[in-house]
Amino acid sequence: MAGFKTLDDIDAVSGKRVLVRVDLNVPVADGKVTDATRIERIAPTISELSGKGAKVILLAHFGRPKDGPSAEFSLEPIARATADVLGRPVGFAADCIGDKAAGAVAAMKDGDVLLLENTRFYKAEEKNEPAFTEKLAANGDIYVNDAFSAAHRAHASTEGLAHRLPAYAGRTMQAELDALEKGLGDPVRPVVAIVGGAKVSTKIDLLMNLVRKVDALVIGGGMANTFLAARGTDVGKSLCEHDLASTAKQIMIEAAEAGCAIILPADGVVAREFKAGAASETVAIEAVPADGMILDVGEKTVKTVTDWIDRAATLVWNGPLGAFEIEPFDRATVAAAKHAAARTKEGKLVSVAGGGDTVAALNHAGVADDFTYVSTAGGAFLEWMEGKPLPGVEVLKR
Ligand code: 3PG
Ligand code: MG
Repeated sequence: MAGFKTLDDIDAVSGKRVLVRVDLNVPVADGKVTDATRIERIAPTISELSGKGAKVILLAHFGRPKDGPSAEFSLEPIARATADVLGRPVGFAADCIGDKAAGAVAAMKDGDVLLLENTRFYKAEEKNEPAFTEKLAANGDIYVNDAFSAAHRAHASTEGLAHRLPAYAGRTMQAELDALEKGLGDPVRPVVAIVGGAKVSTKIDLLMNLVRKVDALVIGGGMANTFLAARGTDVGKSLCEHDLASTAKQIMIEAAEAGCAIILPADGVVAREFKAGAASETVAIEAVPADGMILDVGEKTVKTVTDWIDRAATLVWNGPLGAFEIEPFDRATVAAAKHAAARTKEGKLVSVAGGGDTVAALNHAGVADDFTYVSTAGGAFLEWMEGKPLPGVEVLKR
């Protein structure tokens, strides 16, 4: 791919020690991985390198440990889960630097896969300290980064190492960068963005960037209420950041200047309580009762959203349209997701989605596999949507 060095640019990996930064920050409950998507995503890079006879040494973080090593944040159980996904043994070393790591690496045969313990057991990892990076680099000849979802961190294992060793993007990083380029970098127009979620406050930079880049911006979820209230619509007891009214107005002004249509809900599904199965009714957005909460957008709004999806050549999606975790307030999100999936399958739409809740929402709708690309990144996807350079990506550029 243009602009980045990939595995295709490595001359020979056989017998080489390849340090591969992966994202194994997966959800775990009672010692079991509950969603292995991130592990599945890194399998192609590991299999390719191993198949070519490399010694594949995996570097990863897990959680946000504060005080050095602990069983709670150990990657050891995740080494087993990774072996299950890969269908081959994955060794484990109880340290990412020093004698334990060096000993385990020295014992590797060509094609072996080894996972080193949580890099965040050292504070120097997050501080990107050169002396620590040097210790990590001592175990490798080549560095491959396959962790887009951690690329917004300028840490030793995500950024520092790329300055120390010949550095390449792994296959998942490559696919991710490719998809993101199609989404916002150099998209086929018209481009429609759907942004939802609870709060405007966490997505101001993202909205400001999007209105300059897309042709239409659909705003849903709790954050739509802040925009509605800012333009004078009474949203009753709905979640709403009234203190952000002027920010919302500014975003609408910027959108108008940039020629970006802003689509706000025209109707809403309102309930008196936030719980599954709560009694609800669909009302025009001007008619939200004083004691009502908007928990989803209504059918009229869904029609507008699907019409925009029909007009779009490219769709970028972050955040659900309603409280999709509780039924029946998942309806609009599911309907829009299914519509986008169908258009994508027909070859009429490039659809790129990302962010924690978004992936969960698309899985809930049963269409995650039908989108052009679904990123497993949370923070990194948001920063990309904000138009910010990601340190772990920048350093891989040619
Ligand atoms: C994630 O889970 O979003 C990534 O692994 C990054 O984790 P972090 O937010 O703890 O840096
Ligand atoms: Mg995160």
